[in-house]
Amino acid sequence: MSVFDVIRHRRSVGKVKPDMPPREKIERMLEAATYAPNHHITEPWRFIVLTGPAREALGELMEQSLREKMLETESEKAQAALNKERNKPLRAPVVIVVASVKPETPKTVDIENVEAVAAAIQNMLLVAAEEGLATIWRSGEPSRDPKIKAHFDLSPEEHIVGFVYVGYPAIPHPERFPTPYQLKTEWRGQE
Ligand SMILES: Cc1cc2nc3c(=O)[nH]c(=O)nc-3n(C[C@H](O)[C@H](O)[C@H](O)COP(=O)(O)O)c2cc1C
Repeated sequence: MSVFDVIRHRRSVGKVKPDMPPREKIERMLEAATYAPNHHITEPWRFIVLTGPAREALGELMEQSLREKMLETESEKAQAALNKERNKPLRAPVVIVVASVKPETPKTVDIENVEAVAAAIQNMLLVAAEEGLATIWRSGEPSRDPKIKAHFDLSPEEHIVGFVYVGYPAIPHPERFPTPYQLKTEWRGQE
């Protein structure tokens, strides 16, 4: 498949099988990430690959994070929401936490590091698609919670840019038809 075909083919897949992808495929995703463009070559990415009980630990923190925001936690509805939150990281056999760390040189602008990490994540998603793996880039409130950041040795100023869920697809390949670029593009300086 050409790069363009992989780009076109990649979709977010929210439902995957419990089967564990081979470590080599995950490592290929990680290596691809490191080829992303990054200003001043700060390589601002950090990866934490969660499998098995490491996902449960994240789930417990996510539940705790939600609990702290809730007005009440005892009702059936609240309990169901907490339970759902705790189980979220178990939706895939592998969850890769992809973070942007503090700029190491004064020349670097924080947002540029985040942008570089976003490019790194896209590389990961594309290689996964090429490998026949299903992925979804998730974020949400947990990605901004300082306690969850601390669990991954990140300071409050650093960023969890994404939780990349990885597995084998358990649903048919979703279709998406993006708005044609012509409707988002203006050409200037030529007829
Ligand atoms: C920064 C970022 C954060 C995202 N966070 C979530 C999320 O929390 N939950 C989710 O279901 N999808 C999330 N997504 C995936 C988008 O929903 C998905 O890319 C979009 O629906 C387009 O679908 P596609 O990836 O199949 O083209 C996120 C994507 C990006 C770029």
